[in-house]
Formats: sequence, C-alpha cells, structure tokens
Amino acid sequence: MLANINLLMALAASSLVSASPIATAPTPTMSATDAAETAASTSTSTGFQLVANVTDPFNALALLVQNMVLQAYHAGANYRVPMLQKPDAQNLGRVFYFDRQPQNSSLVLLTDSFSDDTPSNSTTNPSISFGLAVQSLTNFIVPEYPQEHGVGFFAGSANATPVSLANTGTPYGGLFLLNEQGNGTFMACNRTIPYYNQEYGITLEYLYDNDASSSDKMPAMPEDCVSIRLVFVCADLPAVPPGSQSSHANAQPVSCYTDMSGEQ
Ligand SMILES: *[C@@H]1O[C@H](CO)[C@@H](O)[C@H](O)[C@H]1NC(C)=O
Ligand SMILES: *[C@@H]1O[C@H](CO)[C@@H](O)[C@H](O)[C@H]1NC(C)=O
Ligand SMILES: *[C@@H]1O[C@H](CO)[C@@H](O)[C@H](O)[C@H]1NC(C)=O
Ligand SMILES: *[C@@H]1O[C@H](CO)[C@@H](O)[C@H](O)[C@H]1NC(C)=O
Ligand SMILES: *[C@@H]1O[C@H](CO)[C@@H](O)[C@H](O)[C@H]1NC(C)=O
Repeated sequence: MLANINLLMALAASSLVSASPIATAPTPTMSATDAAETAASTSTSTGFQLVANVTDPFNALALLVQNMVLQAYHAGANYRVPMLQKPDAQNLGRVFYFDRQPQNSSLVLLTDSFSDDTPSNSTTNPSISFGLAVQSLTNFIVPEYPQEHGVGFFAGSANATPVSLANTGTPYGGLFLLNEQGNGTFMACNRTIPYYNQEYGITLEYLYDNDASSSDKMPAMPEDCVSIRLVFVCADLPAVPPGSQSSHANAQPVSCYTDMSGEQ
C-alpha cells in the first residue's frame, strides 16, 4: 500500500501511470464493533486525528474504509486534498485542531503544513495552517454526482467553513465532526485524484440530507462511496516552528477518544 506523501509525490512526478491504485484492499482485521469497544475512553486535547467509522456496515467499501485516518496531501499551490488511508508506522494520520477566532462563535478545522513558498525537505520549515472547507449545497465538482459535494484544505483559515464536534454522549454515542453548513454525512469515495495522475484513492466528500430531487427523500449515496463519521482520537499537537504563520493561540480543547489502538 502506498502510505506516505513522498511516495505519492513520486507517483505524481512519474510519467508512468501505475497499474496499482493508491489504496489497495488490505485484509480487514477489525470490525466497527471493535472500534466502538476500544474507543470507549475519552479525554481532552487540542490536537486530534480523525478516524473513519463507517455508518453502513453493508456497503462494499465498509471493511476497507473502517478505521482509515484522514490525511491531507499537497495537490497544488495552497491546496491539500483530503484522503483516507490505513495508518501504519510512516503514516499515523494527520493532526488537526479546532480554531476559534476572537469575536467569532464559529469553529474551523485546521491542520499545519509546510508553506508552498519554502522547501519541503525539512520538518522545521515554517508552517501555515490549512482550513477544511466543505462545498455548500449548491456547489459540486463532478457533473455525474451533483449530490457529492467536495471537501478540501486551503491555506489560511479565511476559506474554512464552520464545523463543530458532535457530542451525543460518551462512551458509545460518538465524538465526531459535523459540517455546520447543513445536516448530512461525510462520505469516503473511491475517486481519481487529478494531481496524482488520475490514480484512484479514497477521498472525502459530503452528502447533504436535503439534497434530493424529491424533498421528502434521503439523497442516494453516490457510486463507490460509503457514509462515515470522522471520529476524534486525541493526539499531540506539535508546536509550530519559529517564523510560522500558523498559530495555536486560539486552538480549542476538544473531547476525544484516547484509544483506538486496535485499529490496525
Ligand atoms: C533543503 O533543500 C534545499 C534545496 O534543495 C537545500 O539547499 C537545503 O540544504 C535542504 N535543507 C535540509 C535541511 O536538508
Ligand atoms: C466566523 O467564521 C466563519 C468560519 O470561518 C466564517 O464563515 C464567518 O464569516 C466568520 N464570521 C465573522 C463575523 O467573522
Ligand atoms: C462506530 O460506529 C458504530 C456503528 O455504526 C457505533 O456503534 C460506534 O459507537 C461508533 N464508534 C465511535 C467511536 O464513534
Ligand atoms: C439539522 O438537524 C437538527 C436536528 O435534527 C435540526 O434541529 C436542524 O434544524 C437541522 N439543520 C439544518 C440546517 O437542516
Ligand atoms: C476503485 O475503482 C477502480 C475503478 O473502478 C477499481 O479498479 C479499484 O479497485 C477501486 N478501488 C477500491 C479500493 O475499491
């Protein structure tokens, strides 16, 4: 399995289109029930990872996607594409944090990444924050799937859309990410990534509840997608290197699960 950014970037640089997709199907070792059991204990943290918990266990992608971690990969200037991958030693999952600007009641989801203006070969490069933006009900990318709304990370928090943490009661109720622009569900979809030579990967998309042509029906799940919750798992938020544009001054502590250690 291709699991880190260097490999992905090497792929992008290659003129050959590899026959193997970005995400291959490893043998599933854990069920949603196991995830719920190992995720019972909670704590508070400013940093966290986002782990996929499928909400439709009968979907063809369910076993593959369950417990994948959210990543954000360089896919153009000031843009990171959200992708879900199985975690491994090189790829533990990206660390995110909630940010709330003074005089604004909305939270946004941020992650720090290197600036596209500085070399990317050093972990001490100054970082900038990338904010999660979910397309609105009226915007979509793929003409075949007008109900599939894109999700992306853009440099700076200005384009980020309001999100929040669902807290429907622990331990088993769930601590997961909500798109405040409208009720619906995040989806993990098997889609090609233009920046990576049209390789297939598991991308993050959004489906609004009220996006159906018939207003009293739930919209259909697009092809090759499974509905997921992005569950909060506590993680250390690395300090920003000197000279960075990102700042953790307004990072908000959140509730998160302490242990999804059985996930691999
Ligand atoms: C990063 O790459 C640049 C240009 O290739 C080089 O000059 C610099 O020494 C490298 N920095 C580190 C820490 O490797
Ligand atoms: C508050 O932040 C949200 C999310 O970034 C943004 O959409 C909204 O315009 C901001 N409101 C004000 C008053 O700045
Ligand atoms: C994961 O999903 C299952 C079934 O959909 C649910 O019972 C469980 O509470 C969820 N776990 C977490 C950590 O949200
Ligand atoms: C989302 O669902 C909640 C609870 O069912 C409801 O109160 C709220 O109005 C809904 N929001 C939107 C934007 O539809
Ligand atoms: C994604 O779709 C492509 C094209 O249909 C297929 O070859 C590939 O196996 C799929 N990947 C997964 C993980 O299902």
